[in-house]
Amino acid sequence: MATSAIVSIGAYVPSRVVTNDDLSKIMDTSDEWIRTRTGIHQRHMAVAEETTASMSFNAAQAALETAAMDAGDLDWILLCTDTPEMWTPATACFVQESLHAKKASAIDLTGGCAGFLQTLELADAAAQLGKTVMVIGTELLSRSMDWSDRSTAVLFGDGAGAVIVTPDRGHGIQLTHSRTYSDGSQTEILQKPYGGTRHAIPPEIVAHGGHHRIHMEGRKVFRHAVHRMSQAAREVLADMNMDVDTIDWVVPHQANQRILTAVADALHIPMDKVFSHVENYANTGSASIILALADMFQQDLILPQQRLISIAFGDGFSWGSAIWTVQSLPPTRFIGRDQ
Ligand code: ACO
Repeated sequence: MATSAIVSIGAYVPSRVVTNDDLSKIMDTSDEWIRTRTGIHQRHMAVAEETTASMSFNAAQAALETAAMDAGDLDWILLCTDTPEMWTPATACFVQESLHAKKASAIDLTGGCAGFLQTLELADAAAQLGKTVMVIGTELLSRSMDWSDRSTAVLFGDGAGAVIVTPDRGHGIQLTHSRTYSDGSQTEILQKPYGGTRHAIPPEIVAHGGHHRIHMEGRKVFRHAVHRMSQAAREVLADMNMDVDTIDWVVPHQANQRILTAVADALHIPMDKVFSHVENYANTGSASIILALADMFQQDLILPQQRLISIAFGDGFSWGSAIWTVQSLPPTRFIGRDQ
């Protein structure tokens, strides 16, 4: 069966770190509340001159440079985000120009926390046709936040990740199997409702210099996330006739620590197999799985021949799971990583 592989990984987080104590100075919250409910200690946030495209470029350039690959060899740039550079053109087009990836067709897909696994499925199909694909997951969520909504604003951070996907030539991370799903029947639970054709941006948001706001019913998201992430993992494992014990690492979307613990419990996976750095970076939406992978490789946590399972859930709702086989360690560079 033809497969594809991730042959390089780049990641970028802004240098500005905002701690829970910093947030407690601008809203009614505390380090203790945020740590206990989410496991988050801090998040990285873009500075004024940074945008989604500039962060994405940094990650994409890192992925190319670390593997000594040429941007001119890219056939596609698939960029997933919920926080685009502007409505049109695609953020991917800005990145294509900055990279001088002259041959690449550049397309945006909606992001959200499952956006990376969904986009990776498309890249996998293209790579099996012989294409070289840059997949970028990127979010500048701090500029979409309702800073008066303390239960949501404390959860997110900014960052960008990029992976290069090619036909499987026996090295890198083989994309062994994956499934993604959507259920659009409950879009109201987690959305950025303003600025599209359904709802104009309310004047009070514009007056405060805002452009979008995330609306989330946290408890409902929690329940759906745990159920769907566990279900998706079980299904990909069953498809492959694999037992959970054959998995070396879970590389989950870094939603929050309580969700990760609940999913591990539901799957009977010990927590020492579940990678988490949510305490440092918080939830970075469609960037989060790439940041997690990059961090794991930079820490030498993953070894050749290991089996990984990734799991994600996010707005839509969309969710999914993927099984990856590490054939060899892909070149990786994570700019701004916490040491
Ligand atoms: N600081 C202090 N108090 C707070 C804060 C805060 N930042 N936020 C809420 N509270 C208060 C509430 O006002 C409430 O007070 P009350 O009892 O006096 O009314 C109390 O804390 C409990 O609020 P809940 O919302 O019920 O708290 P809960 O235990 O559900 O935790 C949380 C909230 C962390 C958002 C949780 O529901 C959650 O993790 N949901 C999942 C959300 C998520 O991860 N979304 C990411 C996008 S989708 C994804 O990535 C999977």
